[in-house]
Amino acid sequence: MNAIVLIGFMGVGKSTIGEALARRLSYDFLDSDTIIEDRTGINIPDIFKSHGEEYFRGLEYEVIRDIVGRSRVVISTGGGAIMNERLFGLLLSRALVIHLEATKETLYSRLEEPSSRPMLHHGNLRERIDELYELRHPTYMRAHYSIKIDGKDVEEIVGEILELVKRGDPL
Ligand code: S3P
Repeated sequence: MNAIVLIGFMGVGKSTIGEALARRLSYDFLDSDTIIEDRTGINIPDIFKSHGEEYFRGLEYEVIRDIVGRSRVVISTGGGAIMNERLFGLLLSRALVIHLEATKETLYSRLEEPSSRPMLHHGNLRERIDELYELRHPTYMRAHYSIKIDGKDVEEIVGEILELVKRGDPL
């Protein structure tokens, strides 16, 4: 089975759901942000602060490119990774890509404390979420599947993903 890759906006629960999904499937779980932090020894906000977003995006591209070909693995990606068209194309061709979709209202409430998320450190929080959402949503919707997560618990969402996985690989 190809890798299962979770994409979606910050705060939708990609890491929590990815970990639970991997446990249910007895797959390995990899989180692109955690790998970047392990490789550099620097946390994400500090990478942005000291080196800037472009540097972070370069690391993110390399990390995800290196792991996407693995099998029996669930990968959760940082919310902006798919905005690199080359990387998103690679994901779509090599993995089962699942978008965890949330309404803006859900995002507003989940992202109230954005200190660990440098992409949200730009003026008014809701306006920034709106701006990034409009920019990214059409790209997220190109995933193989989208699952609405609003009001659902982790087990429910994992159950829905397992149904998709059972249905078979769309590739
Ligand atoms: C980012 C999302 C973050 C992290 C970085 C940039 C983004 O990951 O990769 O802060 O551009 O949306 P999460 O989606 O796990 O918060």
